[in-house]
Amino acid sequence: DPHAFIPAKSTDLRAPCPGLNTLANHGYLPRDGRNITVPMIVQSFEEVFNLGVDALQPFAKFGLLSSAAPDTLNLDDLVEHSLIEHDASLSRLDTALGDSLHFNEQQFSTLANSNPGVDYYNTTSAGQVQFEMLAQSIRLNPNLTNTPKEFKIRTRESAFYLSTMGDPLTGIAPKNFVQILFREERLPIAEGWKKSTTVITAAVLGALQNVIVANSNWTATQACETEILGP
Ligand code: HEM
Ligand code: MG
Repeated sequence: DPHAFIPAKSTDLRAPCPGLNTLANHGYLPRDGRNITVPMIVQSFEEVFNLGVDALQPFAKFGLLSSAAPDTLNLDDLVEHSLIEHDASLSRLDTALGDSLHFNEQQFSTLANSNPGVDYYNTTSAGQVQFEMLAQSIRLNPNLTNTPKEFKIRTRESAFYLSTMGDPLTGIAPKNFVQILFREERLPIAEGWKKSTTVITAAVLGALQNVIVANSNWTATQACETEILGP
């Protein structure tokens, strides 16, 4: 099976992104994590998660800026701080505080333990987790960057884990699927996960993001200019 789950070898490169790493661990992206193009990213996420081109292509093009090569990237290029990579991540340390590339169980414990009493995460819990991660970074990181840009990216990432692991229309995602994506960077197929039957477009993600934003009680600690990501 070309898409069997094989954890990364020490020579393979991986990203600060559980989504991209999962695709590489299943061979939908090159298992060595090298020489990846924008179409490879867009097509693999479409094939595996039913994600829409409109949701992915701007993000993928933006990510390409992290690479020195003209039209490919290696997954670890994406650790470039303040390009996409940001502070107050769900599962990686702030750059100024440690390793912003690899999964960190202690950092992940806020999300893992969120929404107590039920077996799913949702847009309410995702917003609360974003609030708590930012509060932690404000407390611990004197070099924290927290502009509208970071907030927008963080909120899109929350919508990504809810929509791809759960129901993209309700934003309800089983906890065990989300935890497997983060901790093992594996598709939880054996546990019963299935690809979404609805296309996860930018509009679908945007609807989830509106609820996440409302529950994240976010305030900027710095300002930035509006970023233009496409026509
Ligand atoms: C985080 C890149 C698509 C799930 C990240 C980060 C980068 C990145 C650079 C690090 C941000 C941080 O500092 O936390 C990309 C690119 C994508 C893409 C270039 C495609 C164009 C996806 C998709 C999913 C996903 C489709 C869904 C499975 C996540 C999640 C995080 C994340 C949940 C947050 C991790 C954390 O906060 O610890 N992504 N990503 N990404 N990505 Fe992706
Ligand atoms: Mg980060």
